[in-house]
Amino acid sequence: MLQGKTVVLGVTGSIAAYKIANLASMLVKQHAEVHVIMTENAVNFINPITFETLTNHKCLVDTFDRNFQFHVAHVNLAAQADVMLIAPASADVIGKLAGGIADDMLTTTALACKAPMLIAPAMNTYMYENPILQDNLRKLESCGKEIIEPASGMLACRDIGKGKMPEPEILMQYILRTIAMEKDLAGKRVLVTAGPTREAIDPVRYITNYSTGKMGYAIAQNAMLRGAKVTLVSGPCNILPPMFTEFYPVISAQDMYEAVMERQAESDIVIMTAAVADYRPAQVSEEKIKKKDGELILPLTRTNDILRTLGEKKRSDQFLCGFSMETQNMLENSRAKIRKKNLDMIVANNLKVDGAGFGTDTNVITIITPDSEQELPLMSKAEAAGRILDAIIAS
Ligand code: CTP
Repeated sequence: MLQGKTVVLGVTGSIAAYKIANLASMLVKQHAEVHVIMTENAVNFINPITFETLTNHKCLVDTFDRNFQFHVAHVNLAAQADVMLIAPASADVIGKLAGGIADDMLTTTALACKAPMLIAPAMNTYMYENPILQDNLRKLESCGKEIIEPASGMLACRDIGKGKMPEPEILMQYILRTIAMEKDLAGKRVLVTAGPTREAIDPVRYITNYSTGKMGYAIAQNAMLRGAKVTLVSGPCNILPPMFTEFYPVISAQDMYEAVMERQAESDIVIMTAAVADYRPAQVSEEKIKKKDGELILPLTRTNDILRTLGEKKRSDQFLCGFSMETQNMLENSRAKIRKKNLDMIVANNLKVDGAGFGTDTNVITIITPDSEQELPLMSKAEAAGRILDAIIAS
């Protein structure tokens, strides 16, 4: 995902420095070029050799270190960077950055760097809450730097409070959001539904389906990385919602209907991946549930067709995409749904093909519009999400 991108990591003297080794490794696995610059204090917490081994680049510590790779090391590195992340950022380095002080390799590079800069403060709670530090953060923010809010928890000094550096996985998401994709959905509001719905039979039992939400979550993530403002309305799933999206958990088809209708008017693109059941158990008292030959007959009632209502309410400048799962006559049935529900696109899965449909990490999809169809080979759901959004942007 980060092929051809250069990430400069600035590591300062805080115990959380050791966690950046993990981040460096994760970035390298995503094919980024990673350069690490450490303050002299950071070297007390983690050895530069760790970073050199992981990144295959010399870890820069001192401004006057002789370095063969760069003519004027700090300026060159600053120019190469697609993003610079300073994590953990100590109070001291934050003070220097806010004051324009450049007295070592890290701060000189930061001052010369025009790429987006992310700063993850990590320190004792009282230091973090100090108005001087807060002022410095505001100043950096007003200069366009992004401050990554520290997490709360037990700190290395055993105090409990705010000041922990967020985990490397979270820092990774900030980096991905900043540089992973071109922002071709900037300014667009994208509403995605995902997952199954759960329809109560009684207070104990429910009906649901095999949807895991993976396809919808991948679309939400991809749209977010492309700069969209994403709202994800999701039935019960066991996966974490993508960061930087607004998340609305729902349970039943009716909950989903209400959540979606509340938000549809303000959305530019609506993508309905959720596996909403067409029927739910009717709400009748237990005595009224008929039994025939000892078998329970569960009375069913239709759920509101969310996609169809979205089609009816669709603004002329709004794009509406549905999904269809078919076992036969996939193209004909999907085309009929486009017309019936006033859609701009339907993404069809043939449930009979290996690697397609519920639960898997892959999918085999056909992207159908009123006048085109594009059959795609087996690919990851993340990749399929990208192709669906490409098709939406192109149409
Ligand atoms: N859908 C919906 N509300 C429902 C049922 C389905 O919004 N109550 C949406 C699904 O999220 C999907 C699309 O409609 O995007 C197609 O779902 P599908 O079950 O394939 O189509 P139906 O119109 O229900 O037709 P059928 O069950 O006859 O195939």
